Amino acid sequence: MGILDKHQVLEKNASLLLAGSFLVVTIGGAVEIAPLFYLENTIEKVEGMRPYTPLELTGRDIYVREGCYVCHSQMIRPMRDEVERYGHYSLAAESMYDHPFQWGSKRTGPDLARVGGRYSDEWHVDHLTDPQSVVPVSVMPKYGFLANRHIDAEHIGDRLSTDALVGVPYTDDMIAQGAADFAAQADPDADTDGLLERYPGAVVSNFDGQPGITEMDALIAYLQVLGTLVDFSTFQPDASR
Ligand code: HEC
Repeated sequence: MGILDKHQVLEKNASLLLAGSFLVVTIGGAVEIAPLFYLENTIEKVEGMRPYTPLELTGRDIYVREGCYVCHSQMIRPMRDEVERYGHYSLAAESMYDHPFQWGSKRTGPDLARVGGRYSDEWHVDHLTDPQSVVPVSVMPKYGFLANRHIDAEHIGDRLSTDALVGVPYTDDMIAQGAADFAAQADPDADTDGLLERYPGAVVSNFDGQPGITEMDALIAYLQVLGTLVDFSTFQPDASR
């Protein structure tokens, strides 16, 4: 009997075929699923990563709500043209507190993974309000209305707790101080010692340049932190991986 003839035995016996299929699917499934339990090992340890401040996190929610990801990715690939244009390639650790991550492959506009600190707050206000006033050929929509939408920190504690639930290391202290930190980051006159202790490197600014806290403030606070947390002058890729 050749191998194909032997296979007939399986094909002509429904129960045997079912048992055989089940076995194959089980092995295939285990091979696919087992590595996910070791995912933690694939995220390199880096200095500087911290959870988003309450204001940055609010800005990130606005970024997702407005669909900025439809035109912008946040993942610099380790290829020469990308690294020369955008900076150091993205590390897994840099999106470990993102739920959901904003990697993407659709780039109508440039990658934003390292846009933090590249432009002034005023530039962002002008650009978001009227992109064509800054880049005449831009196809980016106008988002000036964000500056008219005032926001408060009523639900920020719950928002931080929700991220804590899925593994973002927000402490009880961070959650309790959520509303205070939210306000302090947008007010250059505020006492920001607590904020900066909880969130090292947080940029404090009246981002949109007008009184009150608006969605524009939150969105720019988020844009300004993107890609700025890891110090790449000291980063050593782990060669053992
Ligand atoms: C329809 C596609 C589209 C959408 C949606 C869009 N953008 Fe853009 N964006 C662009 C294009 C194209 C450019 C490049 C030209 C320019 O600078 O305006 C750009 C540029 C940018 C830049 C400058 C990047 C750089 O490195 O110069 C930032 C920052 C930015 N967008 C943020 C946003 C944010 C925040 C949102 C959501 C509120 C958004 N974009 C939504 C298309 C889009």
